[in-house]
Amino acid sequence: RLNIHKITTGSKSLDDLLGGGIETRDMTEFFGEYGTGKTQICHALAVNVQLPEDKGGLNAKAVYIDTEGTFRWERIEQIARGLNLDPDKVMENIYWIRAVNSHHQMAIVDQLYDMLSKDNVKLVIVDSLTSHFRAEFPGRENLAMRQQLLNKHLHQLIRLSEIYDIAVVVTNQVMARPDVFYGDPTSAVGGNIVAHAPGVRVQLKRSRGNKRIARIVDAPHLPEGETVFVITEYGIKD
Ligand code: GTP
Ligand code: MG
Repeated sequence: RLNIHKITTGSKSLDDLLGGGIETRDMTEFFGEYGTGKTQICHALAVNVQLPEDKGGLNAKAVYIDTEGTFRWERIEQIARGLNLDPDKVMENIYWIRAVNSHHQMAIVDQLYDMLSKDNVKLVIVDSLTSHFRAEFPGRENLAMRQQLLNKHLHQLIRLSEIYDIAVVVTNQVMARPDVFYGDPTSAVGGNIVAHAPGVRVQLKRSRGNKRIARIVDAPHLPEGETVFVITEYGIKD
């Protein structure tokens, strides 16, 4: 496909699973239980997008929308050092925005339309996409409203990725058997956030120690399969 650019995750095998890396003009969702590495992958990507193209980057900046307050500049510094990049420059090229509620989260994305037209941003991260929506609209009785707002938010993000040729990466925490606790289809095991939403869905699972397993879920243009990667001090590796 023409005009699609790719960002390395730092792991060759995870990149291979994704067909070469995280793609622009598309949305990639990482979902899995707590501690499976969703936030660590986001940190790594925010640095890697800044690499030159021959190193797997796009020589560009990142926007990091942080809904849970789990973004850490120290992690960015470590990952930058591991790549022999100047940590101060790398930090300057990440726009960290803390979203305090779902309304704020949606407003931030609206404002990105303006901002991205004037800046060399090639990656927008929303970590986590769903936490505010779940907290503010809990249970089945709020399902319709939650889905309606999430739909709108997702479509704004997808449109952004298409207009500006950027990669959108979102995370979504799912529990092992959420149906047992909530009876809620939106938090079902690997359940779709939005039916028929485009994009690549990657399920993460815990393995031994810092090893994690990634699996692509229903992506017609990617082969089925799974791979192992490792979370290290210096980001995501094989
Ligand atoms: P939730 O947001 O709670 O759903 O989890 P998550 O999927 O975002 O998990 P996260 O990315 O925060 O992963 C946490 C895991 O990353 C920890 O269990 C650690 O094993 C690992 N980790 C975090 N920082 C480091 C680090 O500096 N070095 C190494 N080796 N591992 C780290
Ligand atoms: Mg996280």
